[in-house]
Amino acid sequence: MSVENTQPQVGDDTQQKQVTLKIWRGDASGGKFVDYTLDYLDGEVVLDAVHRVQSEQAPDLGVRWNCKAGKCGSCSSEINGKPSLMCMTRMSTLDLEEPITVSPMRTFPIIKDLVTDVSFNFEVAKKIPALQPKPREKDGTYRMSQIDIDRGQEFRKCIECFLCQNVCHVIRDHEENKPNFAGPRFLMRIAELEMHPLDTLDRRRYAFDVMGVGYCNITKCCTEVCPEHIHITDNAIIPLKERVVDVRFDPVAWLGRTILRRPKPTSSEEVIKLTPAGRSANTPS
Ligand code: SF4
Ligand code: SF4
Ligand code: FES
Repeated sequence: MSVENTQPQVGDDTQQKQVTLKIWRGDASGGKFVDYTLDYLDGEVVLDAVHRVQSEQAPDLGVRWNCKAGKCGSCSSEINGKPSLMCMTRMSTLDLEEPITVSPMRTFPIIKDLVTDVSFNFEVAKKIPALQPKPREKDGTYRMSQIDIDRGQEFRKCIECFLCQNVCHVIRDHEENKPNFAGPRFLMRIAELEMHPLDTLDRRRYAFDVMGVGYCNITKCCTEVCPEHIHITDNAIIPLKERVVDVRFDPVAWLGRTILRRPKPTSSEEVIKLTPAGRSANTPS
């Protein structure tokens, strides 16, 4: 029986195309880019190629992923320097003639290789008091108009990939700002609650004093990298800033409140009491 020669020949059009991934390898103590050359396979995303590197060449390569469908937010990294989801970046959209760099998110501490410690974000999340709903209607329901539901739905598409947090220059280049700045994902959460028609808590001073909305200078980099295409800046942060200006800096609003004896904006201290940390501090032991 004759065996057909299927090996690619020199000059053969069907010769297997190769790609090089330059993957950052290291840990908290330091690291470097390492080149991995592998066959290019049609239809792959970067995560597939990284997995092939892991299975064929570097079994100890650290990479975090879960859904491979752009929904869990685990595979965030920087591909050719752009904050991206590895599972949603098709290899065919990249320049395959050049090495493709894959590096961990820069804003968060490295654990290993492409895996970063994103716990900063979970700590910020704990500082945001949950919805404080007003009483139900007489028939026992809550009612909202459709426009308010649609507004909240956009923000609820967030998959917590933290790419927006990673790209925001306020914390990307300034570790010292982290204690005072929540970052776009969480300013969006505050904005969502602040604009929620059923929420009773005034979070405007808190957004300025504790969440640091004033640090944001509306560069829109967060919006550009959001894989869910949420208009973080236009639909969340700018409206939040407008509300904060009313309580912080608007002398007419201040005069109106004083003359009409309207209630003062809620202090940050009052809001802190409603956060998980504040509630446990106030619970009698
Ligand atoms: S718009 Fe604001 S929150 Fe978004 S990246 Fe720029 S500074 Fe950061
Ligand atoms: S807002 Fe967008 S970029 Fe930011 S964490 Fe959510 S999905 Fe990711
Ligand atoms: S693996 Fe879930 S978003 Fe990429």
